[in-house]
Amino acid sequence: MRAPIAAALLAACCLMSGCARHLPAMNDEQPVPRPQQIVSFDPLYGQNCSACHGSNGQNGPALDLNNPVFQQLMDDATLHRAIRDGVPGTQMPAFGESAGGMLTEPQVDALVAGMRKRWATEGTTRPAQIPSVTTTLTGNAAHGQQLFATDCRSCHSGKQQQVTDPTYLALVSDQALRILLIAGRPDLGHPGSQTGWQTVANGHAASDQDVTDLVAYLASLRSATPGQPYPGTADGVAQAVSNDPARTRLSAQPTTQSRTEK
Ligand code: HEC
Ligand code: HEC
Repeated sequence: MRAPIAAALLAACCLMSGCARHLPAMNDEQPVPRPQQIVSFDPLYGQNCSACHGSNGQNGPALDLNNPVFQQLMDDATLHRAIRDGVPGTQMPAFGESAGGMLTEPQVDALVAGMRKRWATEGTTRPAQIPSVTTTLTGNAAHGQQLFATDCRSCHSGKQQQVTDPTYLALVSDQALRILLIAGRPDLGHPGSQTGWQTVANGHAASDQDVTDLVAYLASLRSATPGQPYPGTADGVAQAVSNDPARTRLSAQPTTQSRTEK
């Protein structure tokens, strides 16, 4: 009795689907490439980078790779290393196979070459005075604070773009701030485009020391316990808890462990 039912069902399905559709013919001539064989920029960038760095390298939550000053700032080896090994302690993942990621060396090379082709301005040489991407100088936060007052407050004051917010600063590394101050973020409206670090400082180009001092100032405001109700360090939390009379009674019990015992 089962066969007629099955046949009837099949017929019904055929009627509903129109029966005119056939499975596509097997296409053995164009095999699907293995992920490791993809070396063209668009799929590599689209699948691995655009979620954070934005489609077409701008307007993403992480820095704009489509920024000619950024492209001048980074040499090929630095770009390659950043993609392969990531930036430890930040959201920038390690993509290279050697660092536990999924991309082969040729794929990392293809990403670097593709970025250059699309996003670097051809023929421009690296300006001699551009501060380097890393520094050996020591920052002076007090001088950074002065620079902030003259060069940044006009745009970053009150409720406008609160870049001095301790919790915001906990989300960005010193290195990311340094890159921002040198290369700018033209996509967001922070001074940038061709001039980057030149337009940030009031009337003069920011030197390596200026950039280092500004970063030191912003870093000095960073919260160690972002988003927690008691600003300050873990000690601040312990202090606030021990000031609460109800808690004092509780913490007198021998089972209560101190937060610092970890
Ligand atoms: C999960 C988010 C995320 C993804 C995905 C991501 N990045 Fe990043 N990337 C970041 C962040 C955040 C930073 C800034 C790191 C810091 O604070 O120094 C960064 C920094 C960088 C830098 C600068 C590194 C340096 O030396 O400071 C380069 C170059 C870069 N990313 C390229 C890429 C490329 C190419 C891809 C795709 C293969 C990619 N990123 C995918 C979040 C991401
Ligand atoms: C002409 C106005 C202007 C000046 C001057 C300016 N900024 Fe900005 N900045 C902006 C705008 C606009 C944004 C984007 C804010 C947003 O997306 O919410 C921004 C963003 C930022 C960010 C966050 C970038 C990110 O990735 O989200 C930081 C940090 C920053 N500025 C620091 C500074 C410092 C430090 C100075 C002084 C050296 C400065 N800015 C001078 C307009 C300015």
